[in-house]
Amino acid sequence: MSVEGYLDISVIAPRIQGDRGADRGFIGGRSGSGKSFLARRLLTVYGISKSHPKEFFGNLFIIDPNGNFDYPVDGTFETVDEVRLDPKARALRYIPKPDQYTGEKWNELWEKLLTYKHPLMTYVDETRAMEPVFGRRIFERGNQLNAYLTRGRARGKAAILGAQRPVTIPRDIIGQSEWYYIFDLPLEDDRQTVAGTMGEFSADGERIRDRAQLKRFEFWFKGPDLEFPVRAQIVK
Ligand SMILES: Nc1ncnc2c1ncn2[C@@H]1O[C@H](COP(=O)(O)OP(=O)(O)OP(=O)(O)O)[C@@H](O)[C@H]1O
Ligand SMILES: [Mg+2]
Repeated sequence: MSVEGYLDISVIAPRIQGDRGADRGFIGGRSGSGKSFLARRLLTVYGISKSHPKEFFGNLFIIDPNGNFDYPVDGTFETVDEVRLDPKARALRYIPKPDQYTGEKWNELWEKLLTYKHPLMTYVDETRAMEPVFGRRIFERGNQLNAYLTRGRARGKAAILGAQRPVTIPRDIIGQSEWYYIFDLPLEDDRQTVAGTMGEFSADGERIRDRAQLKRFEFWFKGPDLEFPVRAQIVK
């Protein structure tokens, strides 16, 4: 499958308001494998113009912990307190300051995103940065990342999560996705993690765990209507 242009991209892009509610996508791959390149293309399908297709209608919120995800935005925040979502801003970005990396701060951020009144796509360029909010940690108001990923579905809160090392992301987070984009993963434990969630074999019977299967910039794609992953590449 080679993906070119808007129509193709919209075929592989998670929906904000679709039949299933709001979707989740997971992008995995080593540094330089093509994750952010793909994400930039995926994000082009979302918009807030009146005539925009409903399934892709919504604001974009980009969480860019490393501050290296180039993308045209209408504003950038550095602390959770500053974050103000705005229905009229197509895309906003959050590059957290070092003191914003506590579990409480991440939890407050996800609560803000979940309680926003309008449809929203949240993209996280490196999910591992949110480690303090992972797992069974108890927060007074509940774990808002988990709440976003579960209850957000019915509230028009979509997400695309990127990660260099899938094994460092809890399975229950990866397993929330109905869209997977898996690039080159040099380490066996990462390939094992993704094979454990998207399946052991591609539609053509190739082993997902076999690193040699993917050429440069190729990825395994699996969407909600596919039983098995297929090989894909963004060619333009
Ligand atoms: N399909 C593609 N066709 C051509 N060039 C590509 C493609 N995908 C990625 N690239 C190029 O490869 C380089 C690395 O890609 P990218 O920035 O997406 O990596 P990454 O997986 O996000 O890495 P990191 O985890 O370090 O952020 C970039 O210069 C990008 O333009
Ligand atoms: Mg990147």
